[in-house]
Amino acid sequence: MTATLIDGTALSKTLRADVGDRARAMSGAGRQPGLAVILVGDDPASAVYVRNKVKACAEHGLHSVLENYPASLTQTELLARVAALNTDACIHGLLVQMPLPPHIDAQAVIAAIDPRKDVDGFSVHSAGQLMTGLPGLRPATPYGCMKLIESTGMAIKGKHAVVIGRSNTVGKPMALLLLQANATVTVCHSATPDLGQHTRQADIVVAAVGRRNTLTADMVKPGAVVIDVGMNRNDQGKLCGDVDFDGVREVAGWITPVPGGVGPMTITMLLVNTLQAALHAAS
Ligand code: GUN
Repeated sequence: MTATLIDGTALSKTLRADVGDRARAMSGAGRQPGLAVILVGDDPASAVYVRNKVKACAEHGLHSVLENYPASLTQTELLARVAALNTDACIHGLLVQMPLPPHIDAQAVIAAIDPRKDVDGFSVHSAGQLMTGLPGLRPATPYGCMKLIESTGMAIKGKHAVVIGRSNTVGKPMALLLLQANATVTVCHSATPDLGQHTRQADIVVAAVGRRNTLTADMVKPGAVVIDVGMNRNDQGKLCGDVDFDGVREVAGWITPVPGGVGPMTITMLLVNTLQAALHAAS
């Protein structure tokens, strides 16, 4: 059996077109959705991510503001910018790109973002909303993974899902989203002794550890849905995920490629969240 590819680029295109249509409709009513992005310092990877976010806004009818500050910005100065953007009526989504310089308390900055504008879904408030099953803004990467799983047409209810990884940005919210969709969820991590024993039971595996070849063909149940959140480099310097793609695709039912799987969905779900925040502000 060769797995069907879950095409994150194609799904992103569909979802982004819908965001674009709805954003332009809101603009026509004088309520263009707006995203503000704050970047502190000159980390090259962060600069690329931020540029892609701003570009995606421009391409899909969203207003965006990029504020780029030197690494010497103080926490007080950053908090003042967050406070100003919190009250800016043209801004519906606000994110501060991570990582921040070490002299800044990232948690304090995230906590200062108005929860209604927390389009990253990284705040304790947003995490609490998800934990308790209340509506709110969901972290973009796991939210995108849910859309990819749903796109297979497989019912999630009653299925066994294994999440590999327990980060606050992917693993934990992923587990909660799957639980909310009525899956039975197991969370595995670096201290799990026999990972394969768990993943072999899984109808859905989400790999989010940041280590290549974490999931190999012998660890996968035939027909399973495999979502690869990893972004690593192989020995040839080529981009690869956490899953041994060539091996696992011969066993799984569906699989996301890297690149072209989860990657494009992250910015897409950021746009979806910004639109949602703008719709909420307008209601
Ligand atoms: N750094 C890496 N990914 C992200 C993200 O999704 N949001 C923010 N704010 N910072 C990041």
